[in-house]
Amino acid sequence: MSRILLAGGAGYIGSHTAVELLEAGYEVIIADNYSNSCPEAVKRIEEITGKSVKAYELDIKDTEKLENVFKENKIDAVIHFAGLKAVGESVAKPVLYYRNNIDTTLSLLECMEKYGVNNIIFSSSATVYGEENPVPYTEEMNRGTCTNPYGWTKVMMEQILEDAAKANKDLSVVLLRYFNPIGAHVSGKIGEDPQGIPNNLMPYVAQVAVGRREQLTIFGKDYDTPDGTCRRDYIHVTDLAIGHVKAIDYVLEHKGVEIFNLGTGTPYSVTEIVETFEKVNDIKINHVYGARRPGDLPESYANADKALKVLGWKTERTLADMCRDTWNWQKNNPNGYNK
Ligand code: NAD
Ligand code: UFG
Repeated sequence: MSRILLAGGAGYIGSHTAVELLEAGYEVIIADNYSNSCPEAVKRIEEITGKSVKAYELDIKDTEKLENVFKENKIDAVIHFAGLKAVGESVAKPVLYYRNNIDTTLSLLECMEKYGVNNIIFSSSATVYGEENPVPYTEEMNRGTCTNPYGWTKVMMEQILEDAAKANKDLSVVLLRYFNPIGAHVSGKIGEDPQGIPNNLMPYVAQVAVGRREQLTIFGKDYDTPDGTCRRDYIHVTDLAIGHVKAIDYVLEHKGVEIFNLGTGTPYSVTEIVETFEKVNDIKINHVYGARRPGDLPESYANADKALKVLGWKTERTLADMCRDTWNWQKNNPNGYNK
């Protein structure tokens, strides 16, 4: 069975993907510097699956250390999750973001070339559609203008991977454009564990629910949307993880570059998220309406037809599942992994 290297595999999406890959029979190796995660997540992956995971603590930018992983293991494919992802922080620290996100990609490509590994899946984002494309987004649209350095790193990394595939006809690249992953594994053992004040909506809601934050501010209610709040394509992280298993099957069998949106195709507003969380979990979320957050688009959602047609993948979990599983994780782990 194929052996998959998950760069940044201890993080939120990587840990859920590791579980689904192991359950599908793949062997998984994780390389992570734990800058935004912890070894406990790897233990929990093993607990859920009853399988062991080889984990390396290293900075993916450190090509020499990364080479050891390729030397010690015959790797069939790489999934590149290892990136910094806080939009606001990327505006304040652009150099850190460009250095980390671009260099991790280059190190991986260098090692892959040296050790004859030809398959890579990259964690891209809906953010690459930028400001000018209309919703719903389809994969053949041009990449647009981003509002922050984080988004630009995704645009640049997509370009780098496309150029690498142009130069090396043996290379197989899948760019997965995630929409808004939320939720947690149904066991409640792994989930999203942001450091400090959460930037994203669902972890903030969950921390209000568990009493770690006083109230949620909903950013803007004067958008040109049905209820005036922004709409996003929220996707259960387990559905997203299963999308990676399908993409691994695909990347191992093909050459060249393929792009897939991973979303549900159905947008929900911020108010709908709060109301659903309250209803499903029978808990009140203290909230107020505040000013718009700079850089937010009114709407972002996928046309998810291509992933269905080509990968045979579609989401199966509802918004209620996403809210229930988020709360199950948060209430069982009020302080996350306690790292
Ligand atoms: P995360 O922060 O939970 O996971 C990223 C992991 O990479 C962490 O474990 C972190 O410690 C590790 N990492 C970062 N830099 C590293 C380095 N130099 N060397 C080794 N490890 C490093 O984030 P996530 O939500 O799981 O996101 C995974 C990927 O998906 C990221 O590239 C992110 O940009 C992308 N993405 C996430 C979202 C989202 O909303 N969560 C949306 C679109 C795209
Ligand atoms: N929101 C609030 N209050 C909060 C946090 C968020 O009202 O405390 C709102 C935002 O204004 C937005 C919605 O909830 O309307 C979703 O915000 P998130 O920060 O959860 O998600 P974004 O859509 O802004 O960002 C996500 C990913 C980024 C990615 C971006 C664009 O986190 O990585 O989508 O695709 F770049």
